[in-house]
Amino acid sequence: MPVTVVIGSQWGDEGKGKIVDLIAKDIDIVARYQGGANAGHTICWEDKEFVLHLVPSGIFHEGVQCVIGNGVVIDPVAVMKEIDMIRNLGYEVEGRLHISHNAHLIMPYHKKVEEARERWRDAGAIGTTGRGIGPSYVDKFARTGIRVVDLLDRDVLRKKLITSMEEKNAILQNVYGADELDVDAIIDEYVEFDKIIDPFVTDTTELLGQALADGKRVLAEGAQGSLLDVDFGTYPFVTSSHPTVGGCCTGLGVPPTAVERVIGIVKAYCTRVGNGPFPTELLDETGEELRRTGAEFGATTGRPRRCGWLDLVALRYTTMINGFTDLAITKLDVLSGLEEIKVCTGYRINGKSSRRFPNDIRTLEGIEPEYETLPGWKQDITGATSMEQLPTEARDYLAFISDYLKVPASIVSSGPKREQTIVC
Ligand code: GDP
Ligand code: IMO
Ligand code: MG
Repeated sequence: MPVTVVIGSQWGDEGKGKIVDLIAKDIDIVARYQGGANAGHTICWEDKEFVLHLVPSGIFHEGVQCVIGNGVVIDPVAVMKEIDMIRNLGYEVEGRLHISHNAHLIMPYHKKVEEARERWRDAGAIGTTGRGIGPSYVDKFARTGIRVVDLLDRDVLRKKLITSMEEKNAILQNVYGADELDVDAIIDEYVEFDKIIDPFVTDTTELLGQALADGKRVLAEGAQGSLLDVDFGTYPFVTSSHPTVGGCCTGLGVPPTAVERVIGIVKAYCTRVGNGPFPTELLDETGEELRRTGAEFGATTGRPRRCGWLDLVALRYTTMINGFTDLAITKLDVLSGLEEIKVCTGYRINGKSSRRFPNDIRTLEGIEPEYETLPGWKQDITGATSMEQLPTEARDYLAFISDYLKVPASIVSSGPKREQTIVC
């Protein structure tokens, strides 16, 4: 019962979309297990480039089925917009995309509450994507959420929306001093979803369970990154779900014993969008250069990504949590042309050197990274498809990462396109 899980090993945007699309050709079902439209997964081949937010990154392979699992929070407007985009590109979606009836919904009031809460936090703002993710998960765990299945019954939906919005309006007005929501307008808009979403809604847990029993290959696509995990990340500067490996079991209903391969997606340097600690951040010309060469601007919000050197202490920690069986190292081409490349191999905490990643932010904010300096390479490696095409320095850099983490690299990415890849 082979399940492969693809997980971001850093703070997101490692190139998960590219890798999922690449390996999906040998897979039967690709399933998203957490997060929502805060994700932006870019897929490129030939002269095409698309960004997916909710639909799994296997959708551009006609023979692949796609699942949005119970652990995802779904904005019905966003998912229908994405389905239309994919249909307009000539891909069949009905019969291939299956949305869990148990997944929770994101409603306009979740975005309003998030906006108000971020404003209220002021200097302590998280820098969220504004997609309503946190407040939707809050409702789920408060057991007041509205689920996909509720969209299919207009009367139930109307009742639940009224109850939820009464509470949200009281909070928005009295706590945050924000505007009230127009309850009738929201009801009118969302009751219309019953028929259009109906063909996609199913019991995805049963679907996946049956597929695994039949020996089908399932790929679980993580969104965000391990350091944004609500438990293991740099709390409170995290997202509200579990991108780490356990999220795949609770977000899809697949047993841990079915997981056979866990691929850690590692960007060859490091980026972060939004606020929070980032020990190896570069606030100088080299950071600017990485942003420019790597086109490091958010695929969802367009925000410039903060850039820095590869942090092996953080990666050792996320390798430990997820049990990566192999790595896909992306964006190696972006490092071409640098005279030298630094890699963080230790943290100095209170004068002592350590390889432990402290995930409490007060300690993390006070650490001093310890670097090893490796030689760079001049040659442009964009589009390399074999290890032999890489200069020695690039191969040494890859070996340094694998040696430190004690995990082999099975894929090296040399450009944004599907075909710009080395399969080791
Ligand atoms: P995801 O959220 O992990 O799927 O990553 P994003 O799509 O948000 O960001 C990754 C960006 O890097 C996208 O623009 C990709 O097209 C691009 N990309 C992925 N792999 C490579 C690579 O090996 N080299 C270069 N230059 N770009 C890449
Ligand atoms: P993909 O799947 C990078 C960040 C936000 C913010 C924090 C919380 O494309 O890698 P949220 O809206 O989730 O409540 O924001 O998490 N964040 C991401 N950063 N890539 C993502 O997704 C992200 N999804 C959320 O910037 O710091
Ligand atoms: Mg992204």
